[in-house]
Amino acid sequence: MCGIVGFVGNENCTDILVEALKRLEYRGYDSAGIAVFENEKIKTVKAKGKINDGLVQKLGTVGKPDGCCGIAHTRWATHGEPSDVNSHPLGNERVSIVHNGIIENYREIKAFLQSKGYTFESETDTETVAKLLDYYFKGDPIEAIISTMNEIRGAYALGILFRDCPDKIFAIRKESPLIIGKGENCNFIASDMTAILDYTREYYLLEQNEIAVISSDEIEFSDIHRMSIEKELKIADWDAEAAKKGGYEHFMLKEIHEQPEVVGKTISARIKDGLPSLEECGVTDEMLCSYKNIYIVGCGSAMHAGIVGKYVIEDIARTPVIVDIASEFRYRNPLVTADDLVIIISQSGETADTLEALKYAKRVGADTLAVVNVVGSSIAREANRVMYTLAGPEISVCSTKAYAVQIALMYVIAFRLAYAKKTITEDECRKLTQELLTVPENIQKCIDNTEIYQYVASNLVNAESLLYIGRGLDYALSMEGSLKLKEISYIHSESYAAGELKHGTISLISDGVPVIAVATQRNLFEKTQSNVKEVKSRGAKVVMVCHEETEVDKTCVDFKIGLPTISDLLMPLITVVPLQLIAYYTSVLRGNDVDMPRNLAKSVTVE
Ligand code: G6P
Repeated sequence: MCGIVGFVGNENCTDILVEALKRLEYRGYDSAGIAVFENEKIKTVKAKGKINDGLVQKLGTVGKPDGCCGIAHTRWATHGEPSDVNSHPLGNERVSIVHNGIIENYREIKAFLQSKGYTFESETDTETVAKLLDYYFKGDPIEAIISTMNEIRGAYALGILFRDCPDKIFAIRKESPLIIGKGENCNFIASDMTAILDYTREYYLLEQNEIAVISSDEIEFSDIHRMSIEKELKIADWDAEAAKKGGYEHFMLKEIHEQPEVVGKTISARIKDGLPSLEECGVTDEMLCSYKNIYIVGCGSAMHAGIVGKYVIEDIARTPVIVDIASEFRYRNPLVTADDLVIIISQSGETADTLEALKYAKRVGADTLAVVNVVGSSIAREANRVMYTLAGPEISVCSTKAYAVQIALMYVIAFRLAYAKKTITEDECRKLTQELLTVPENIQKCIDNTEIYQYVASNLVNAESLLYIGRGLDYALSMEGSLKLKEISYIHSESYAAGELKHGTISLISDGVPVIAVATQRNLFEKTQSNVKEVKSRGAKVVMVCHEETEVDKTCVDFKIGLPTISDLLMPLITVVPLQLIAYYTSVLRGNDVDMPRNLAKSVTVE
């Protein structure tokens, strides 16, 4: 949520900053701006709109600042509507900042500064921080930063320029993420590694309340008491190509196509001698047997992955699983105790509510296991244990491969738990594990079936509203299918347990309303087909997603999407593909910005 990048080196930085910003655009795309030292002054250019539509056009008109040190920002508005004036960088001719996060006490600070004669142009919380820094700056930037940190409350990652300290970037963080990249004759700040992968894979993680001072040839760290800090240089294992489109029209399509590979990697890294293993995170079979309940907590697609996890774990391992939305869990006084395991799922590892839910679980003494994609992220570091999903960078705001690897790990955990509790035999566990390894090739088969998804999408494109229905695992999965469709096509959609339809929702069915029935669970097929008949007889246009070999009643199904046959238990791992691609092609046909859907951002670092 909001992307920050900064560069200091020996070459003109405007183009470098703009290109890096484009890689961060998935974090917010309401407006963007840069501030660069030019002839010992800070020159700022910023504009409402996506980077190419706003900032790049404006730089063409007003000219590119000429300097080797600058900061840049792409925004997801919280305080103040998207506009030129509310865009970052913010400040005055002496101090300029970019900010990710929310300053909770900005009103008090603003009132204080107004009483000292400061005036404000924007409606943002950020401008108050910039002006507070200015107020405290009496020649010593660190002093001003420490005084400011002592005053402000909330979450922040900040990149700061002081006019009187040319060619230096100052950076601080609390809650919101920030890394410091170490390049050749240049250094960076960035919200995440994808921004700077073209230049370096070496970085430092800025910790809470640390201060970094960055120049072209030096990076210094200190704490809030001015004590200098030695930090470990880390190396990212993502490469620059992974964060580029690589010939695909959209990141979303590329990421869907990467699923066979990343699901394969994520699963096989956890198979030892034919059995699933949780060794890497120190969870023993004894521990698995001792957990009373499992809570699975996340937001959005990550939470949906938890629902699939619940169905699988309860089915084969017979441990009660409670799935919670992170923003509910953290405030609803859940019954979680020290006897429980809390699995926290997050692609970014930075989602504010998810991180707080994790801290809550730790406070009550529960064991915590993070299932996270971004190495070294806040959630990964905060949890007692971590299992990384190996999806590589996910750029499209609409999550696809990250969800796929999350559910893949749910299966690994469920299988090991069932094996440890002896609710399945070793032989059964080996067979399931073996079959799990065939999932990638079956995902590929589903991807190869593109035409049918395009055809279905062409039939959905003018719908105002539609329903996904399913039972059991199909219901769990269709929640994700419905979310994919609505977030990128803007067509209203709901997912419903097929058996629950007639308790209210069926009243929404009228002539031509599309219904996507997910029916891969063969023991439930007849039941789902009866529900399909009920909607068909009220005018619905029905798409059925089921095993290729399943015979459907053609009188109640308009289109059948047939999938390769694997065990029903594993079907969500491949059934997700048609749901993703139907959403993708519907969005494309409606002319939407697939990778940057309106109002959304990828990494939600505010509540
Ligand atoms: C945002 C994204 C979703 C994502 C959710 C949780 O809403 O748009 O795609 O599922 O955040 O993000 P996380 O990084 O915690 O998985």
